Amino acid sequence: MRPVVEIEGVVRRFGSVTAVDGVSLAIAEGAFFALLGASGSGKTTLLRMLAGFEMPDAGRILLDGADITRTPPNRRPVNLMFQSYALFPHMTVAQNVAYGLEMERRPRAEIRARVAEMLETVQLLPLAGRRPDQLSGGQRQRVALARALVKRPRVLLLDEPLGALDAKLRGQMQLELKRLQHEVGITFIVVTHDQDEALVMADRIAILRAGRLEQVGTPREVYESPATRYAADFIGQMNFLPGHALPGGLRLPDGGLVRVAGEGPVQGEAVAAVRPERIRLGPGENTLTGTVRALAYHGLDLQLQVETPAAAEPVTLRLTAGEAETAPGIGERVTLGWAARDTRIFPA
Ligand SMILES: Nc1ncnc2c1ncn2[C@@H]1O[C@H](COP(=O)(O)OP(=O)(O)OP(=O)(O)O)[C@@H](O)[C@H]1O
Ligand SMILES: [Mg+2]
Repeated sequence: MRPVVEIEGVVRRFGSVTAVDGVSLAIAEGAFFALLGASGSGKTTLLRMLAGFEMPDAGRILLDGADITRTPPNRRPVNLMFQSYALFPHMTVAQNVAYGLEMERRPRAEIRARVAEMLETVQLLPLAGRRPDQLSGGQRQRVALARALVKRPRVLLLDEPLGALDAKLRGQMQLELKRLQHEVGITFIVVTHDQDEALVMADRIAILRAGRLEQVGTPREVYESPATRYAADFIGQMNFLPGHALPGGLRLPDGGLVRVAGEGPVQGEAVAAVRPERIRLGPGENTLTGTVRALAYHGLDLQLQVETPAAAEPVTLRLTAGEAETAPGIGERVTLGWAARDTRIFPA
């Protein structure tokens, strides 16, 4: 099936800054696609080019196979929800949602029906008569979503849609957004700098780094098989052990060997990488010994920081609540083990 959005070699420069530096991406119909990257990596610039508010200096953007690179924003079947979504303060919830359809001069009956249906979907029907200042942050956020979705765009672009919300509400709204996207079936492209949020919400993630794509894949792919050291570091927590790559593994400075499953193409100075949740207490295919330096209780898990001769940075591991009951204390000697297949090697 033809992707709904195709981005081909898109470049955008601002003076000496290349904000987007040759990005090519295909986004499938009905996808929940996340653009993830650090501040300044070019996420908003790429989104604005998709919306038509910014022209690429090179490359093309296709929608349903048609070149829309030079099409003005109001002629694209694409809707952008801004980083700070401004609702009209003097209008009710229903009037805010109806506004876009009124601009399109839709018949009254149709507007009324579509607004009601949309408010039902975002569960705001009982609040249809309120003004924005009579709503909570999460409710305002849902009005903004309803306003964008009611026009039935082919693609909805969202720039940090949950940025203004506190942590708890943010978690709820992540699931809400996912439910909503599933229900309306519209392709969502969401910008976020929060890797947890991208993992929770998206079915595909593109990691942007300084205007270039670092990796594109499912949440599982980018988490379990990061393509680069940057991606490994950016998504989730990762332990890095520096050393020298050799066939089948990595030689640590103290002479120890870290094994990997299958030989990588990596040579010379390198780092072995292993996730904290893949390390257990007790020996494994890879083993390190060290001293517990810190414990951090997180409710669901207990994080242990262990000083080892292998690396200057302590090694972090995460014990489940069950394991935590018999966890060692600070100052105790421990053995850490993990599997070769849970180990990646990257060039240093
Ligand atoms: N209109 C502009 N004029 C000059 N430079 C710009 C302009 N817009 C963006 N930039 C620069 O382009 C780069 C990418 O900016 P962009 O806003 O796309 O980043 P971002 O990934 O959205 O970051 P954030 O997470 O902070 O929102 C930055 O270096 C930024 O300073
Ligand atoms: Mg931005």
